[in-house]
Amino acid sequence: MSVKPQLEGEVFYPTPEVVAQARIKDWSEVARRAADDLEGFWGKEAEELEWYRKWDTVLDRSNAPFFRWFKGSQCNIIHNALDRHQRSWRKNKLSLIWVGERGEVRTYSYFALNRDVSKFANVLKAMGVKKGDRVTIYMPRIPEIVIAMLACAKIGAVHSVVYGGFSVDALQGRIEDSESKVVLTADGGFMNGKVVELKKTVDDAVRRCPTVETVIVVQRTAHEIRMEAGRDYWYHELMKLPLATGSCPTEVMDAGDPLYMLYTSGTTGKPKGLIHGHAGYMTGVYSTLKYVFDMKDEDRYWCAADPGWVTGHSYIVYGPLLLGATTFMYEGAPTYPYPNRWWSLIEKYGITILYTAPTAIRGLMRFGASWPARHDLSSLRMLGSVGEPINPEAWKWYHREIGKGRCPIMDTWWQTETGMFQLTPVPTMPLKPGSAGKPFFGQDAVILDEKGKEVPDGKEGFLALKNPWPAMAMTIFREDERYKEQYWSTYPGIYCAGDAARKDKDGYFWVIGRTDDVIKVSGYRLGTAEVESALVSHPAVAEAAVIGLPHEVKGQAIHCYCMLRNGFTPSEELAGQIRNHVATHLGPIVKPEKVTFVDSLPKTRSGKIMRRVLKARAQGLPEGDISTLEE
Ligand code: WTA
Repeated sequence: MSVKPQLEGEVFYPTPEVVAQARIKDWSEVARRAADDLEGFWGKEAEELEWYRKWDTVLDRSNAPFFRWFKGSQCNIIHNALDRHQRSWRKNKLSLIWVGERGEVRTYSYFALNRDVSKFANVLKAMGVKKGDRVTIYMPRIPEIVIAMLACAKIGAVHSVVYGGFSVDALQGRIEDSESKVVLTADGGFMNGKVVELKKTVDDAVRRCPTVETVIVVQRTAHEIRMEAGRDYWYHELMKLPLATGSCPTEVMDAGDPLYMLYTSGTTGKPKGLIHGHAGYMTGVYSTLKYVFDMKDEDRYWCAADPGWVTGHSYIVYGPLLLGATTFMYEGAPTYPYPNRWWSLIEKYGITILYTAPTAIRGLMRFGASWPARHDLSSLRMLGSVGEPINPEAWKWYHREIGKGRCPIMDTWWQTETGMFQLTPVPTMPLKPGSAGKPFFGQDAVILDEKGKEVPDGKEGFLALKNPWPAMAMTIFREDERYKEQYWSTYPGIYCAGDAARKDKDGYFWVIGRTDDVIKVSGYRLGTAEVESALVSHPAVAEAAVIGLPHEVKGQAIHCYCMLRNGFTPSEELAGQIRNHVATHLGPIVKPEKVTFVDSLPKTRSGKIMRRVLKARAQGLPEGDISTLEE
């Protein structure tokens, strides 16, 4: 292992310990095997899981881009995440360790998690939830969100988790679009020492959603909330009822049956409800987590994302359970009550793998290395990053101060749509700070120009994926055409990611950022369209445009340009009101950084706002091609 390949730029090589433990010693060898026989590779991976009925074909391409993986098979992700562990020693292994912001601790063995999931599945059934029904989940980071998701999957219901940092309008739109009859929530959650009023938001949202018949409420904060008779039920009371007891059979699902939907912001229009299924998703998530984080039974793995985003779905909830791993979850803020909270949790619980986002690293880095230095972080063996490009400075800080130079950083690039990692290193791959490594096994990622031609190495272009992968979204809920149009029409037959990137001569990918109107605020994916419609719902705003501008900690921040209605005059006070208005309607994470009042907005002759021009102007950059700009 002493022969180091000659690689361009700054490179960090794996330590002998990392190499000794690693499942994959030679990335190229596995990559070649998967490239030569994509279906063979994934078929073999799928064999490691249990199926009620094996597939007829690993990959059916006949209706592309609606690829069907493991066609003809029957399974349920819960069978592999929970049921099968009941038959092994893992029954008594910890599946989940949870710590509340106020320091409470709860632990679940695989046995206990399965028991509570079965009970809650029985409750849902008693409430009339059936296979295929959508259930909206709007909860804080507490074990019940995991239980709720798993219970839905167990009975074949489709969960639609809405991130708890969203507010009324966002929640309402997602409940409405999914036509959920049941909403699962909590009386609140703790964040930064304060109560987040989730139930109140649900009340406001549900008032405008006629489909909702039942709201189930977990008691978390025990502060006063309103419960509506005949609609609202306490989770803990339902779980005590005789109907909750007894086992609950895991529903047999066909390969293409939906597991969940997850709304994500797009360029235009309302958020897209991306659908993920059981068979392919289960296989893709299982294998990526196994290979990339090299997950072992001894690990205590902490993905510090929120379950309400795809990272939480794939790599807090489903992935670790499929592997029979121990997952750690923390409810609150990283800096509460002090900036050492995360580091003390790592020390106290012996976390071995930490997977988080660049924004969190930058946020903690601000407080200085003396905070992590107070703690024994020697349990860590692997680190991860996701959500946006990580700047090399933050990468190196993370590597040095948290990983003590020993722990490889897996910078994983993927999306809600992809369900699983697409670009990523593996632990034995030499690492370049700021690069998301290479395509995961079986993927052929390319950088294309506008016409679909590959650009030379080192040149920026559009990131595209040439091969299908098992965890790919199956469609957008009730919008097959939109799915095709959005992702598969720019380059026919090739998945267009919406990101700009380049590939260096060593084959490493460097993701630059979105090419569309998606903004990444603290790693959270937000669409300009939703923010703009919240802005114009303010009585003073006639028209608005929203862009993302660089922000030191958040990565990007929301900047708004507003044209006022007649009779309103620009003022600091009004700008403040408008910012709060957006936060109240969409959620605190969507609160704009700045509101600027303008007399006009740059538009194309056909009336489309040219956000690109606003962005260039704000940054003092050349405005590019403005030939289509209106007079
Ligand atoms: C960005 C999050 C650079 C990218 C899993 C992508 C990244 C969008 C990385 C998807 C990374 C995610 N390096 N950029 N490692 N990971 N992104 O759907 O712009 O919330 O298109 O999924 O996040 O965001 P989403």
